Amino acid sequence: MKAVTLHAKAPAKINLGLDIVGKRDDGYHDLRTIMASVSLYDTLTITLTPCETGEETFTASAEGVEGDNLAARAARLFMQRNDLTGWRVHIHIDKRIPISAGLGGGSSDAAAVLRILHEWRPMAQNALAGLALELGSDVPYCLHGGTCLAEGRGEVLTPLAPLADCWVVLVTPPVSISTVEAFRRYDEKAVPPRLEGNVFEDLLSIPVVAEIKQTLTGAGASNAMMSGSGPTVFGIFEDENRAKTAFDTLRAEFPKTFLTKPV
Ligand code: C5P
Repeated sequence: MKAVTLHAKAPAKINLGLDIVGKRDDGYHDLRTIMASVSLYDTLTITLTPCETGEETFTASAEGVEGDNLAARAARLFMQRNDLTGWRVHIHIDKRIPISAGLGGGSSDAAAVLRILHEWRPMAQNALAGLALELGSDVPYCLHGGTCLAEGRGEVLTPLAPLADCWVVLVTPPVSISTVEAFRRYDEKAVPPRLEGNVFEDLLSIPVVAEIKQTLTGAGASNAMMSGSGPTVFGIFEDENRAKTAFDTLRAEFPKTFLTKPV
């Protein structure tokens, strides 16, 4: 066996609306959300090196990412479930997607690892989707990509038509939010489903998120909303010049501002 190097791209996602429609017996929540991928990418280099059976390792390195990494867990799960022994797997991630930002970066990295290993050694598609859900609620969507309605934990996917041509400005303010905490807020104060906006935006009510939304709308965004459990806010622009002006204005204050398109 010879060493193998594989490359993958992992796009960020935004939630065009996010509603919680109920609490489940397994502790998770039933969601209803539309997810869309945008052109902000992490890039992954996956190196597989032959080793003795029993000496396999699964590691990942990325700037700003410490400890247990979902991408390394994805590689381990894929190799073990497919009885692919005798390989050390190392993943280097060039991180562009802000971490814990509501943009699904970690889930998208894990999905990219599954996708590329599946190209190398194909497995049954439905079993692959099962592995994705074992890794996290957003991973099945990330494996699919594009624009989808996501229900259940996030794994019941209905593909939708791609978004119309537009510009998407992403702004990640320096606020730290844990997804678990966001869902806990809902449990403390369950709000009825309303099928518009993002339920977490109201539950968390972060002042800087409201400010960024106002700036985006004032700059001509046809829609501005928090993504996932935040704190990233996105603005949708039909007009390229307005999008670029909003991007320049916001980037002066928030370094993690990105000008993207749906992909
Ligand atoms: O599935 P994942 O590990 O990404 O979820 C992280 C946490 O978010 C879960 O432990 C759970 O608290 C919460 N969650 C939820 N319902 C979902 C998705 C996530 O309660 N549909």
